Amino acid sequence: MAELASASHNVVALDPSRLPTHVAIIMDGNGRWARAQGKSRLFGHDQGYRTLKNIVYAARDLGIRFLTVYGFSSENWRRSAEEVGGLMDLMLRAMRNEIEELVQNRVRVRISGRLHELPPDLRTELEVAMERTRHFDGLIFNLAINYGGRAEVVDAVRSIAKRVQKGEINPDTIDEQTIASHLYWPDIPDPDLLIRTAGELRLSNFLLWETAYSEIYVTPVCWPEFTRDHFVEALLDYQRRVRKFGAVPEE
Ligand code: IPE
Ligand code: IPE
Ligand code: MG
Repeated sequence: MAELASASHNVVALDPSRLPTHVAIIMDGNGRWARAQGKSRLFGHDQGYRTLKNIVYAARDLGIRFLTVYGFSSENWRRSAEEVGGLMDLMLRAMRNEIEELVQNRVRVRISGRLHELPPDLRTELEVAMERTRHFDGLIFNLAINYGGRAEVVDAVRSIAKRVQKGEINPDTIDEQTIASHLYWPDIPDPDLLIRTAGELRLSNFLLWETAYSEIYVTPVCWPEFTRDHFVEALLDYQRRVRKFGAVPEE
């Protein structure tokens, strides 16, 4: 926290009692940022990895409980083989490089997405990271890889249908809680704040069910240049919001 406070002048303005419990981030703009530097898209993704490391520990320092980031969507397979391969390599390299530090910092790693469709070496690395950090009590860092919001709902519906077939669930009792409890990580609460970098005003199939009442913050800043100060700025903006959940707040 001392390090963060000295690096960031706006952090003192944060109200520690009103921090979001769960922050989700669509880390967008690596390609555009790289192009502006005259560099390759993969160079942009490499810089994006540095930003991610910085923001994971910023979230930890600030006392945020859950951080979910969109690393690779179920639609990102549509990119060139070179870019997809480069991203898979980067994710493998990053997890291998970071695991010891994550363990030292008691960060609990989770993965959201269809793991079984990933290259086997990456899948193994991600499963080992989850297993090794499973008992920790620090920040829960949830990495969405090969993740799609619709695919997550499809997977939930399939597992509910199987339980109906076995007679474990009566279809007439299925409610929102039933669906929520069959999503990838039922113990992670819905995001309070959703941040998207690089300016696009869309969800791109991220956490469709979970963001029903999330506060949305979009910044034009591209992910590779997103700093702790930008992160704190998003948290400050969140603290100025009035969350209503459909009700009329009392005066
Ligand atoms: C986000 O940056 C990273 C991934 C989707 C993997 P992009 O690669 O989408 O960057 P832009 O949107 O093309 O600038
Ligand atoms: C969303 O960004 C996916 C990730 C950040 C991993 P995209 O760049 O894939 O989204 P679109 O294509 O602009 O909607
Ligand atoms: Mg993009």
